[in-house]
Amino acid sequence: MRRKIVAGNWKMNNTFQEADELINEIMDGLEEANQKSVNVVLCPPFTFLEMTTDYAQESDYAVGAQNVSCHDAGAYTGEVAAKMLESMGVEYCIIGHSERRKYFHETDKELTQKAELLLKNNILPIFCCGEILPEREAAKQFDVVKQQLTDAVFNLDPLDFAKIIIAYEPVWAIGTGVTATPMQAQEMHAYIRSLIAEKYGKEIAKNTSILYGGSCNAENAKELFANPDVDGGLIGGASLKAKDFLKIIDSF
Ligand code: 13P
Repeated sequence: MRRKIVAGNWKMNNTFQEADELINEIMDGLEEANQKSVNVVLCPPFTFLEMTTDYAQESDYAVGAQNVSCHDAGAYTGEVAAKMLESMGVEYCIIGHSERRKYFHETDKELTQKAELLLKNNILPIFCCGEILPEREAAKQFDVVKQQLTDAVFNLDPLDFAKIIIAYEPVWAIGTGVTATPMQAQEMHAYIRSLIAEKYGKEIAKNTSILYGGSCNAENAKELFANPDVDGGLIGGASLKAKDFLKIIDSF
């Protein structure tokens, strides 16, 4: 179902104590704002998932992981399985983030496996796609995003795909302070929705949440979220400051 979502991707940041403080500040702010129309998702590193899911029982946010193994279980030292995440109350999981594609060489085949395992374990994948700067400069951004979707998630069956959340994250905007303009975001989100309609039909396309990520902050979120095909944000740096993150949530 299409929902407004603001998800905080903490990446590899915060100590246990800092994470504890941040969650508490966010919880206080959420209680005060009593914001019911936006689904708030916190995606801390694995080490803080337990604390984050514990606190979630007293608050109005859901918990997401930043990664998951493409294997079901077994001898994969250092990996975390989808069913482990589910058993801890994790409801979302980011997959295909550009940092994981770049530094950890994640392949499309692995991303399909991750998506399938997550869905089998009742966790909603947040699938990231987006072009790098030379691709945008060569006006190839639409082809790149189409290829990423086609190779990793357009091979899912319709019932599975209908549960996926898409995050368009132009790589040149991630952590750079350069945000896509509202027009660039809307144009790509509308294109992604049209691709989904072509592949899975209008109903599924209409109901898919498509988030924007890449230097989205307390100042620019309102303008980005005002676009008809932008259903929220996947927030990096600004999700580490409670005040900024809460302001972004309040930007709808
Ligand atoms: P920034 O908001 O820090 O640019 O990061 C975006 C991102 O990568 C979220 O997944």
